[in-house]
Amino acid sequence: MSTSGAAKSNASFLDRYGAWAVIAGASEGLGAECATQIASRGVNCFLIARREELLARKSHELAEKYGIKTLYKAIDLEDANAANILDAETSALDVGLFVYNAGADPSGTKFLNYPIEKWRALVRRNVLTLMESTYLFAGRMSDKKKGGLLIIGSDAALGGGSRVCMYTATKGFGTNFAESLWAELKPLGVDVLNVIVGALDTPVFREALKVRNIPFENVSAANPVDVARLALENLSNGPDLIYWEHDKEGASQLAQSRRQHVIGVGETLQAFYGPE
Ligand SMILES: NC(=O)c1ccc[n+]([C@@H]2O[C@H](COP(=O)([O-])OP(=O)(O)OC[C@H]3O[C@@H](n4cnc5c(N)ncnc54)[C@H](OP(=O)(O)O)[C@@H]3O)[C@@H](O)[C@H]2O)c1
Repeated sequence: MSTSGAAKSNASFLDRYGAWAVIAGASEGLGAECATQIASRGVNCFLIARREELLARKSHELAEKYGIKTLYKAIDLEDANAANILDAETSALDVGLFVYNAGADPSGTKFLNYPIEKWRALVRRNVLTLMESTYLFAGRMSDKKKGGLLIIGSDAALGGGSRVCMYTATKGFGTNFAESLWAELKPLGVDVLNVIVGALDTPVFREALKVRNIPFENVSAANPVDVARLALENLSNGPDLIYWEHDKEGASQLAQSRRQHVIGVGETLQAFYGPE
């Protein structure tokens, strides 16, 4: 793209998704990369994660490099009060983009082999805080008739399996939630995109390989730089961006068939329930 083309595209991104983006799970990996690419388009960034030092560093880097405003706050998204804290912290900001990235579970633990508190915390972060904070930002965006919600999911959403019981269950929630919201919020001017991705080269993924003595070279993992770029370019092409490093054509076909399914469900239920 020419310099003037890029400037025009950044201006329209800023107009649609500015002035502020809130990125939950922004201290490293895909969330940090999304923050970088959002900042490079001129949108101010509010970074959320648990590790304050990493947030402070990232925040400083983005402000220096892109001349945007940044804020950060250490919040544990497993905290029952997380969405209320987010609400209070962002009440004075014009938030046009909300990214929910936090969500991995590399434990590989069977359902009965973990104390219930661990699963409750996973549900809290991947389901309840996701739902509550989306309610908050989607409501504000629909009032302004613009904005975007980017939910990072996983291909674990597509089916269950031993050792990923609660992870697949919560990611299934995220996908169905995002797809339905895409249909409901599009007429209100708000974009929703759910990202379904396979293995992803993040510090959490690298650590999961390391503890199992699996060399990184033996696996195929998507690059967060590519996933973030595609996600931000396709915010208005929801409901799903499916990215499989090994099968791009299959991923694109599945995304199209899911979109048709979501549209079909909406049309059937509109006929059944009538106007709301
Ligand atoms: N890695 C993969 O192979 C893979 C594959 C498919 C999909 N995904 C999806 O990609 C997303 C990112 O995964 P990831 O591998 O980077 O691991 P992750 O554990 O989801 O970490 C991502 C970010 O979220 C933050 N975070 C995690 N738990 C948090 C909590 N309780 N409260 C606040 N912030 C929290 C982390 O920072 P702090 O630790 O500083 O809080 C980090 O900045 C997830 O939604 C995951 O499901 C990953």
